[in-house]
Amino acid sequence: MKPKILVVGSMAMDLTVTSERFVGEGEMIFGNGFSSAPGGKGANQAVQAARLGAEVTMLGKLGKDDFGLSLIESLKQSGVNTEKILFSENVSTGVAVIQIQKNDKGTENKIIVIKGSNNELTVDDVAFLENEIADYNMVILQHEIPQEVNCRVADFAKAKGVLVMLNPAPSSEVPKELISCLSYICPNEHEASDIVGIKPESEDSIKQAIERLHDMGVDNVLITLGKVGCAFSDGTKIINSPSIDVAPVVDPTAAGDSFIGAFCTALSSGVSAEDALIFANCTAGITVSRMGAQTSLPTISEVSSVMKEKGYNISVTLD
Ligand code: RIB
Repeated sequence: MKPKILVVGSMAMDLTVTSERFVGEGEMIFGNGFSSAPGGKGANQAVQAARLGAEVTMLGKLGKDDFGLSLIESLKQSGVNTEKILFSENVSTGVAVIQIQKNDKGTENKIIVIKGSNNELTVDDVAFLENEIADYNMVILQHEIPQEVNCRVADFAKAKGVLVMLNPAPSSEVPKELISCLSYICPNEHEASDIVGIKPESEDSIKQAIERLHDMGVDNVLITLGKVGCAFSDGTKIINSPSIDVAPVVDPTAAGDSFIGAFCTALSSGVSAEDALIFANCTAGITVSRMGAQTSLPTISEVSSVMKEKGYNISVTLD
């Protein structure tokens, strides 16, 4: 059966420049490439889950402008249900300005997000979910919309026994009332360190950070660790799952979103956490080998063929 996933979160137009090094303070440098692509953490996660076969609904707020139209088009083309998306009358669509540094040492990015209409989503806008949230198997949230909206949605979900995944990105405080409603949390190493005050950089510190997050009330903890991979715990055991190199890194943007969209899709289709982690690592491995956020997110057939090539016999079937 196709899992039904609701993503409540951000949509943004990504404006990306590439240069050999990051620009310094008060400095001007020449870059060597510019592109724009639909992005925003919420929308990226929704698009990823839909391209992998989940039935996905996106809820968020766009501006009434050309970026808003392009973002809704990208969601629709990927099969995401956009009927719940709202429009702000007077605030423009969110944008992200991304700088990519590409040289012989590797490829890194830096992102500045202007929240725009994402910040206009209110608790009243999501009130209808109290009656509708039980239609979904899982809800995915991030940190690019007002936190009180996340709290309200998570609260509705918890009351109806719907699984909630929080991706606490970009890093900011996670209110206690939100943590207590989560079934899954997926911070990266920096976000985890900001939440629990422990840098997950060794076997011991990863274990401690995971334990701290469990103590805060989350049943399932997943910490992404960049090039190293990720560590997952359901409270009984820790699974370390290495990242999967598919091709040289072209653009790391949306790697985490791709990983989360894939993990939630695989998990809610019934595969084990261990296999869902491999599936998610493989999906993210493809994403970083391409340029842009939503432009780089792979389909289920692309992920399946790379997994086969790499010798993984995991089937994520969604019909
Ligand atoms: O996670 C990557 C995303 O973060 C980009 O698409 C950008 O829009 C920012 O929200």
